[in-house]
Amino acid sequence: MTKAKTIDGKAFAEKLRKKITAQTAIMKEKHNVIPGLAVILIGEDPASQVYVRNKGKQTIEAGMNSYEFKMPPTTTQKKLIAKIKQLNKDKTVHGILVQLPLPKSIDERTIINAIAPEKDVDGFHVINVGKLATSQDDGMVPCTPLGCMVLIKDTMGNLTGKHAIVIGRSNIVGKPMAQLLLRENCTVTMAHSRTHDLEAECRRADIVVSAVGVEEIVRGEWIKPGAVVIDVGINRVQLSDGSYKLSGDVCFEEVAKVARAITPVPGGVGPMTIACLLGNTLKAACLQNGVEVPEV
Ligand code: GUN
Repeated sequence: MTKAKTIDGKAFAEKLRKKITAQTAIMKEKHNVIPGLAVILIGEDPASQVYVRNKGKQTIEAGMNSYEFKMPPTTTQKKLIAKIKQLNKDKTVHGILVQLPLPKSIDERTIINAIAPEKDVDGFHVINVGKLATSQDDGMVPCTPLGCMVLIKDTMGNLTGKHAIVIGRSNIVGKPMAQLLLRENCTVTMAHSRTHDLEAECRRADIVVSAVGVEEIVRGEWIKPGAVVIDVGINRVQLSDGSYKLSGDVCFEEVAKVARAITPVPGGVGPMTIACLLGNTLKAACLQNGVEVPEV
């Protein structure tokens, strides 16, 4: 049986970041605007610290301004909202991202909706969720599903009439992913923990996007031959020697024997997320300065 193409998200993200870097330089030269991204991190979660460090590094590499605000885990909701309000008014800041998850004492929805919608580069604000659902293109689209979509379109071209399944209904990935696939004229099934016979639902799909966070739940026999499989899962799995490895939602070895193309974990969807965040920051800076948003 032919082996599926491994979709190289790392290489694709590097190409995308090069294009964004070039457009950022043009923005600076022609319009005297340097896109600025502010990231707020509350507490000391090690995984969040790694993400924030990588975001800061890649923002600077793209020629943008990076502002990092680290706040203690005891930070109150009021204090966090005051910081967001200050950044909302700051003309040098075009994008604001509050790293999730937040401490339990802070209400996530209240915080997300405190960010000015035009600076919400995560695309999580209710206004941006509504814009995506009603096909208004001037909104911000969440970075991970946007990255998945770029990879799917690059692999498959026109998606009209394709049957897609999204496994997982989170606000961050599953729901916006389904909206993006609908926008490309796919017939979309949204599956989740209460779905009956997930295997049968999956087997009908030309495109499978899994974002459930369950290690290797998607097996080879679940996949229609020739389907494209996108693995959003990043599961930390302990090995018998006590060390850890990253594992996706998809059993790569099995699925690669059946699918036409598949994203690996790591090196698939992950690198695309930050590239799309930089793309959103550039888009936000353009929209806030009356500049046409470049095609990247
Ligand atoms: N934590 C994990 N993924 C994300 C993301 O895409 N955005 C934010 N703000 N926090 C996250």
